[in-house]
Amino acid sequence: MPVTVVVLAAGQGKRMHSDLPKVLQPLAGRPLLAHVLSTARTLDPAAIHVVYGHGGERVREAFSDGDLHWVLQAEQLGTGHAVSQALPSIPNDHRVVVLCGDVPLVRAETLKQLVGVAEQELALVTAVVASPAGYGRVIRDGCGDVQRIVEEKDATDEERAITEINTGLLCLSAEALRECLGKVTNANAQGEYYLTDVIGLAVERGIRVRPVVADATEVLGINDRMQLAVAERSLQRRIADDLLRRGVTLADPARIDVRGELTVGRDVFIDVGAVFEGHVRLGDRVRIGPHTLIADAELGDDSIVHSHTVIVDAVAGPGCEIGPFARLRPGAALARHVKVGNFVEIKKSRVEEGSKINHLTYVGDASIGADVNVGAGTITCNYDGVNKHRTVIGAGAFIGSGVMLIAPVEVGAGATIGAGSAIGRDAPPGKLTLERSKQVTVDGWQRPKKQGPNKTDK
Ligand code: UD1
Ligand code: CA
Repeated sequence: MPVTVVVLAAGQGKRMHSDLPKVLQPLAGRPLLAHVLSTARTLDPAAIHVVYGHGGERVREAFSDGDLHWVLQAEQLGTGHAVSQALPSIPNDHRVVVLCGDVPLVRAETLKQLVGVAEQELALVTAVVASPAGYGRVIRDGCGDVQRIVEEKDATDEERAITEINTGLLCLSAEALRECLGKVTNANAQGEYYLTDVIGLAVERGIRVRPVVADATEVLGINDRMQLAVAERSLQRRIADDLLRRGVTLADPARIDVRGELTVGRDVFIDVGAVFEGHVRLGDRVRIGPHTLIADAELGDDSIVHSHTVIVDAVAGPGCEIGPFARLRPGAALARHVKVGNFVEIKKSRVEEGSKINHLTYVGDASIGADVNVGAGTITCNYDGVNKHRTVIGAGAFIGSGVMLIAPVEVGAGATIGAGSAIGRDAPPGKLTLERSKQVTVDGWQRPKKQGPNKTDK
């Protein structure tokens, strides 16, 4: 039987106290709904329907994926009502897997088990949790068979003491689901059409309910920021464990954050407080220092990133050494064995093999040849207030400290630029060029003294 997935994502998420629709709240850098959709796709479903409502267009716009069927639930009358909106377009001979946009950590293996249950049965993901408050409780009979779900607000004290909870995820044939949902009423504490009532109704029809008991960490529903924070740490730990399994050494698996996709080579070391965003690729033996941010970047084999370095949208070839306190901005490209030291900022520039820019320097819109040494405090003055201009430095050049390179300007290969020069015209290759005002010493000069009656000399 083909599988169709229905994802419930229409709720407002009042308890988040946010302008952002709940399913767009970020978890590990991606919207909650994106996590659910990725896991749903592992089932290779015939279709994925997303029931949306609150924050409507914003939710749709956040997902450009062409394969999604968007189903509007104009009024949020409950989870059962939400599923009913999608049902008309699902053929009877499909099995429907219902997922919740706010239950993002469910594993692909759990969904596989869910659809592995016999086609005429109802499969239901449950979990046993330490604090079941807020969840629907699973009511089983004396033989351990699931009878029904009771929502917390409708539960007796005795039922509230049950620690097996409903996760909101289930699988049932479209035909049976249609039949049961048709019987669901809103005669309950919240005046809503509960999807959970389908379980009791199915049992009444002689449909067997197969619970798939999942791990408590998988089924966390995100209703408030506290749960969002718990889910974030839980997912980060999962990612960290995965990195450890792939052979990465983490100084502390609890102190790394990956908000995107991190690809790693062999024997990579990552210190505490490293944050990775977007797509990051680390080569073999790369070492990442503490408290660093690396986003959409590629670092070649044996590169070292020292502490407090920020790298965004940049690449560094093998054997580079970057930081501490360095900043590679978009378009920075370092070839092999380049050294970039503290308080150096590089933007939209290429630096060839073996060059060194070790201290307090800004390199923007430049191209720097191989084996260049850029002295401390050098600045490419790339912006004239209106346009950006390029600086070109030839291979083997030596730029003294405190040089202003006023672009557009070119320094020839092997040239030497004297410290403190403001270079506004091209400097020829192989020669010393400097620009410096004459140094004077003023004889007989005295420091001014403080004025006024009560001031004493110092
Ligand atoms: C629901 C379950 C509860 C379960 C919990 C697990 C019901 C009645 N209760 O409770 O048994 O323990 O999930 O996390 O199903 N939604 C819509 N349209 C609506 C209402 C909700 O799309 O009209 C969506 C929400 O956006 C959310 C999901 O359905 O993604 C669950 O709704 P929510 O209000 O969070 O239900 P819970 O109270 O958490
Ligand atoms: Ca919920």
